[in-house]
Amino acid sequence: MKILVLGSGAREHAIVLSLLQESPAHQIVCAPGNAGIAASGAEVRELDYVNPAAVAEFVAAEGFDLVVIGPEAPLVAGVADPLREAGVPVFGPDKAAAQLEGSKAFAKAVMDAAGVPTGAAEPVTVENAAEVLNRFGAPYVVKADGLAAGKGVLVTSDRDAALEHIAHWAPQGEVLAEEFLDGQEVSLFFFSDGKTVRPLSPAQDFKRIFDNDEGPNTGGMGAYSPLPWVADDFVQEVTDTIALPTVRQLAEQGTPFVGLLYCGLIVTAKGIKVIEFNARFGDPETQVVLARLQSPLSEYLLASATGSLDKLPNPQFQDDAAVIVVLASEGYPATAVTGRELTGLAEAAAHEGVSVVHAATAISDNRWIATGGRVLGVVGRAASIAAARELAYKALAEIKLEGGQHRSDIAAKAANL
Ligand code: AMP
Ligand code: GLY
Repeated sequence: MKILVLGSGAREHAIVLSLLQESPAHQIVCAPGNAGIAASGAEVRELDYVNPAAVAEFVAAEGFDLVVIGPEAPLVAGVADPLREAGVPVFGPDKAAAQLEGSKAFAKAVMDAAGVPTGAAEPVTVENAAEVLNRFGAPYVVKADGLAAGKGVLVTSDRDAALEHIAHWAPQGEVLAEEFLDGQEVSLFFFSDGKTVRPLSPAQDFKRIFDNDEGPNTGGMGAYSPLPWVADDFVQEVTDTIALPTVRQLAEQGTPFVGLLYCGLIVTAKGIKVIEFNARFGDPETQVVLARLQSPLSEYLLASATGSLDKLPNPQFQDDAAVIVVLASEGYPATAVTGRELTGLAEAAAHEGVSVVHAATAISDNRWIATGGRVLGVVGRAASIAAARELAYKALAEIKLEGGQHRSDIAAKAANL
């Protein structure tokens, strides 16, 4: 198959690696991609990938059997729409259905209509903020509507900080106050063709920059899969109570969801609840989930895009574990110092069971350079979480980046279960 993958991060690198490993006969083009993706053997092309017209023109000129849209920005911008209209199989929802991620208010309305369990929420304004926060109580959860590059959500016990967050975001659109949900977080992905869903394997992400979940939120500093602590019927329960009702509701209201339904969940004492939906694969969870996928990824992407998921069984996963540890630049997540040299990549990747996925790298004068906040991730795969974790950290230790930051406690608790 000739497949176009849109995006430039480690998630897209993981998707590309999975497709290449599945069949060397695939022709994979990644736009805009990154230096690591190019080094893995995909063709990397420049493209204004959040611009629907530019992408439609590129796809028409090149001809692809399948287009996979990685990040949320092109989805919310409507990049899928003209492609689907032109009859190209696209993995990724239309602009209307991408609102599931693009608008917290839209997502809440869908969950309400579908009876999907989630935290209570209500719109909050500068005027009623004090009263609403009092009613919800601490810790306060305040969410700006719309994509805010991870900065729109604040979870805090500091009432003044919550009020400030509301005052900052209210002029830019709707803001929601939400019930605080206490429990372990799970990311569970589903392939969806608009009617049928097929679950992937659960993963857990580590969102805060520092060990012990301290410091500000990031895009994700590490992840592991599977989760030994979830109930045996966890995936079935999420399928029945969350993923299917959501996909059915979206179809019923005329905005069918074709692509990857990312269920961001909290396992509370009162059951599994949704904290957010995303309309694409999670990063860095995808890097550990796809590492364990045995079934051919392209078949599931294409069946989703063409409405034939019901013909495929649930995808199969290796009975092992994968752990990713992310390496970030100095200063991330506030202002990352970029342009520094990276060494030891080949040495890290030489460990059996290790792959290095690139998020923001470039090659300059034959040297690897870090070009962004999250630079790369080291994935270790082994028979147990403890072994996969040890492998990932051992390989990461080969990589040197001045000022580089990584957490030292990724999957530490799960490794001891
Ligand atoms: P989001 O951008 O919606 O993924 O939120 C970022 C992070 O905030 C989540 O990963 C959770 O850790 C936390 N969070 C969001 N909503 C809630 C909630 N209702 N209760 C507790 N934590 C939350
Ligand atoms: N890892 C969180 C996300 O992809 O949104």
